[in-house]
Amino acid sequence: MNEVLNTIANRYSCRSYTDQTVEREKIEAIALAAIQAPSAVNKQPWQIIVIKDKALINEMDVYGMTQLDEASHQRIMGRGGKLFYNAPLMMVIAKNGNKDLDCGIVAQNITLAATSLGLGNVVCALAGAVFNHDKYKKLLPKDYEFAISVLIGYPAHPNGSAHEVDLSKITYIG
Ligand SMILES: Cc1cc2nc3c(=O)[nH]c(=O)nc-3n(C[C@H](O)[C@H](O)[C@H](O)COP(=O)(O)O)c2cc1C
Repeated sequence: MNEVLNTIANRYSCRSYTDQTVEREKIEAIALAAIQAPSAVNKQPWQIIVIKDKALINEMDVYGMTQLDEASHQRIMGRGGKLFYNAPLMMVIAKNGNKDLDCGIVAQNITLAATSLGLGNVVCALAGAVFNHDKYKKLLPKDYEFAISVLIGYPAHPNGSAHEVDLSKITYIG
């Protein structure tokens, strides 16, 4: 396998982070990988909001927990009670229009770039619960809304492993 395939094979959702901040060069490399994603008709219908302010992330975590439905709340409580798992860095992908597919590809670029740099990461749709609050909505550019986010940081337990693959999900024709 080559380096790219190894990175894809080793990526997993990390749900526990140390307090160590992510180096600026790594943050910039990940943000660059994000906007190198393909998009339909090259519209690039996204903005990437890089939140490095741990106090703000904590504050959003506390608010977000009050906004979850019962099932999501239970799930997060079972994982330690922190919506953002103590991650020191959040990249929010905001969309201009109905562009979830394009923004999903951005998210995957972010997860793979972060993995390749030795960082834990997890896609976080539940962060959307926070952006109904004016205070946090203001973090997004005008005419953009939350699409998806990715949490990033150094894994507290660096022994996470990728999910089992189900080869029956692949059909070959011809
Ligand atoms: C669109 C999308 C939204 C997700 N939202 C969350 C989330 O809000 N919180 C979370 O802990 N994991 C979230 N995940 C991570 C999935 O739970 C995870 O990818 C899945 O369980 C497979 O595990 P793996 O990433 O380790 O392979 C999300 C993943 C995707 C693709």
